[in-house]
Amino acid sequence: MTKILVTGGAGFIGSHTTVELQQQGYTVLIADNLSNTNAGVVDNIEKITSIRPLFEKVDLSVQTECAALFERHPDIEGVINFAAHKAVGESVEKPLMYYRNNLCIVLNVLNEMQRRGIKNFVQSSSCTVYGEPDQLPITETAPLKPALAPYGNTKKMVEDILQDCAKQDLVHAIALRYFNPIGAHPSALIGELPNGVPNNLMPFITQTAAGIREQLSVFGNDYNTPDGTCIRDYIHVVDLAKSHVAALRRLLQNEQKAHFETFNIGTGNGFSVLQVIQSFEKMSGRKLNYRIADRREGDIEKIWADTSYSNHELGWHAEQSLDDMTRDAWRWQLHLMES
Ligand code: UD1
Repeated sequence: MTKILVTGGAGFIGSHTTVELQQQGYTVLIADNLSNTNAGVVDNIEKITSIRPLFEKVDLSVQTECAALFERHPDIEGVINFAAHKAVGESVEKPLMYYRNNLCIVLNVLNEMQRRGIKNFVQSSSCTVYGEPDQLPITETAPLKPALAPYGNTKKMVEDILQDCAKQDLVHAIALRYFNPIGAHPSALIGELPNGVPNNLMPFITQTAAGIREQLSVFGNDYNTPDGTCIRDYIHVVDLAKSHVAALRRLLQNEQKAHFETFNIGTGNGFSVLQVIQSFEKMSGRKLNYRIADRREGDIEKIWADTSYSNHELGWHAEQSLDDMTRDAWRWQLHLMES
């Protein structure tokens, strides 16, 4: 059984990826400091898969903790890195915290991998590296633009680190550039656990429908889009999780075209904020209280992925519709309220 270290594996995307990995026969070791989640997620992964992942509460940004983890698990064959702070606004306020945490984790993990000759590394990256696209749909070869916030910068910087290490054959890496992951596992046992007031659209919608928030603000309806609201490429988190299994398989089977590769992970379809609300209302049977508000600073107008390269090379494609995503996000919110 191939043992894979999943950093941040108790988080939103990490937990869903752990489920998919276990269902494909991998042994998963989760390393998570539980800063933005809780250990109950591990129990729920076990409920879904009937397999309990190995779990270690570790802060990988601390070099000694990272080294000790690898010491305890000499049989790790690959790493999928989700461990990172991820709130864009907070990263503007606390840049040092973001650079230190998100970069030190990667440097420490790569260092331990290099010492032990472990090569395979999958990185959680983001379409934020493209900024406002010049052409749509956006391909992996599009120019990268300076990030507006430290969070986005850390994603770009980690890609640069991987690129430089790959040139020296220190690592075989794949960076998956996610578009907008939403939804939850259909079991409603794992999903997103936003801390405080959500920044992202989907948890804000479900919390508003649940009565936790009074009203959703739609940030701007004067964009150059068919209904005036911003367009994004929303992808079901289970589809996204499966892309990691495909990337890992490519690494383990030595199928890479270069030692550092990037792939767009989206559906290839763009939906507006109002279309997401409509889908949510249809799937939940609830009317959503929302109003049109000012634009949010730093938002890009529209972006969606060209997924042909990732579909072809990874043998993976997103299968679930926007209605599947909003349905599962709502089921998860209902589960949270019952528990
Ligand atoms: C945001 C981050 C992005 C990050 C991603 C992580 C910004 C500018 N971008 O992406 O870097 O990788 O989260 O998931 O913060 N919206 C509303 N009302 C709300 C919330 C959102 O109308 O209360 C709109 C936004 O204007 C946007 C869309 O919904 O058009 C999606 O927003 P969000 O879920 O925050 O994702 P992004 O901004 O695309």
